Amino acid sequence: MTLPIRPRRLRATPAWRRLVSETHIAPEQLILPMFIREGATEPKPVSSMPGVVQHSLDSLRSALAHAASLGVGGVMLFGVPLHKDATGTGASDPDGILQVATRIAASEVGDALVVQTDLCLDEFTDHGHCGVLDARGAVDNDATLERYVAMALAQAEAGSALLGLSGMMDGQTAALRAALDAAGHTDVALLAYAAKYASAFYGPFREAVDSSLVGDRKTYQMDPANRREGAREVALDVAEGADIVMVKPALPYLDVLADAAAASPVPVWAYQVSGEYAMIEAAAANGWIDRDRAIDESLISIRRAGADAILTYWAAEVAERWAR
Ligand code: PBG
Repeated sequence: MTLPIRPRRLRATPAWRRLVSETHIAPEQLILPMFIREGATEPKPVSSMPGVVQHSLDSLRSALAHAASLGVGGVMLFGVPLHKDATGTGASDPDGILQVATRIAASEVGDALVVQTDLCLDEFTDHGHCGVLDARGAVDNDATLERYVAMALAQAEAGSALLGLSGMMDGQTAALRAALDAAGHTDVALLAYAAKYASAFYGPFREAVDSSLVGDRKTYQMDPANRREGAREVALDVAEGADIVMVKPALPYLDVLADAAAASPVPVWAYQVSGEYAMIEAAAANGWIDRDRAIDESLISIRRAGADAILTYWAAEVAERWAR
């Protein structure tokens, strides 16, 4: 039959498909988030995230060496402190768990990959919010910025190369850039979680950092209904001096990610969050989907939508599998 246009011609063999593949992804475009628990003597599994642990300092060291040997692009460190209080004092303590872990990472793998730190108060506050509260119990934007500045200086001193601004306070990127520069940390880069949505998909993360949040984050994180506002947040963070912008979560927000990729003059990253991880793991554990294919499809889709790099809890695993 005469049918001049037959798209299947280029799908016929693995060699053809490989040759015409439009999107590629490599280990250096993956960033591994890691949790480090203060006082832990051995790694503690996070039950809602099979395969993910809260590290001890020893298990952190070996996981860092492993990630570096696989060629992943970076690690994003989260501290799980023993003690929490209203202002999250542990977050800016030079001997706080996140700073201790950062010094270890910077000295052991700082030449091989980019050591990054979460800059947010929720892991450190007893109320679980990303900022400090005012007399009415609302998150106080400008008082929180002061705490973020203290955290930024502590993280920079500890050797973080890239600060992950995940708190969604207004003006945080500009405030931290100014404070870092004034302290001489002109080389420490800022990753602005520019379009971060108030998402149900962060659920398992709460267990991962032992967070005791009461209520929600809807007064500072974005409404999932808003696409245009995502573009606005990206533009704002770029104007405030962000070196990289992020969209988070990833898979439910590919439209926001594509908008950011089209408009941003700086790299655009995406965070495949805890709930995205847990969904695939849970469905695969039930035999309902092919686990490895679902993981790879989710990552290539996030990349196709425009992410230059992806934070994913599977970073080390897939880097190892792709190398085979
Ligand atoms: C804030 C922060 C959160 C996540 C990363 N940084 C929690 C939140 O904003 O509620 C979630 C990551 C995930 O779910 O994997 N410190």
